[in-house]
Amino acid sequence: MGADPGYEEKYGEIFDVHAHVLPGVGDGAEDMDEAERLLLSAASQGVREVIATPHYSRRRRTDRERLQELAVQLQERMSRHDPQFRVYLGQETYYHEELPERLKEGQALTMAGSRYVLMEFDTAVLYTTLSRGVRRLAEAGYVPVLAHMERYRCLRDEDRIRETAKYGCVMQMNYDSIRGHWFQPEVRWCRKQVLDGTIQLLGTDMHRRDFRPPEIMEAVRWLSKNLSRERFEDLTYLNARRMTEDEAIPL
Ligand SMILES: [Fe+2]
Repeated sequence: MGADPGYEEKYGEIFDVHAHVLPGVGDGAEDMDEAERLLLSAASQGVREVIATPHYSRRRRTDRERLQELAVQLQERMSRHDPQFRVYLGQETYYHEELPERLKEGQALTMAGSRYVLMEFDTAVLYTTLSRGVRRLAEAGYVPVLAHMERYRCLRDEDRIRETAKYGCVMQMNYDSIRGHWFQPEVRWCRKQVLDGTIQLLGTDMHRRDFRPPEIMEAVRWLSKNLSRERFEDLTYLNARRMTEDEAIPL
């Protein structure tokens, strides 16, 4: 998929904070060629920086050196196409009680070495469990980033979203969720969150070419049309940059 003429000048650089591109890790890209093709497709839609976020769960031991090595190899592949393209390493961590300890030991990884931690729960998680997880991470000195927040049924309540943000939790939504039509209730709800300012980060959550490939252009056009330039840049690039630089993301 190619971008239309003027697309990049119009929308600027995009920073994707959620991508299962490291090859052969979990349910992400199968091999380095597929990883490269996924990122080239993302690059053709304006993405210039990406945090690779393979899954981390309590059951799976993280081979940190291997992940770092894969991220370096993928960076080298992408540098051949575009010397400015950047690949960072993070993880999408499945929350469990020992997560703060695993992060301290380096068994689970933060986002690009910052204090930010991309975390996910079961989609049917109870609000009390989600809220406690967010608070435990914050108390341990990390900044929780809730992955694809639109998936949690317990957060279909604006008071709860506000309360979660009060504990310092950053909200990430998938680009895919704001694509579609206003008459789809799901799309409408997600767009409302973006317009209300409850979302700080967006990601593709790309996996494979046949499973959630990066397709952001429609969402990017909608964002650009419906948000101020400042807010658009915060969501598509600047907040991600703040995260990698370990600066505060305004909530
Ligand atoms: Fe994911």
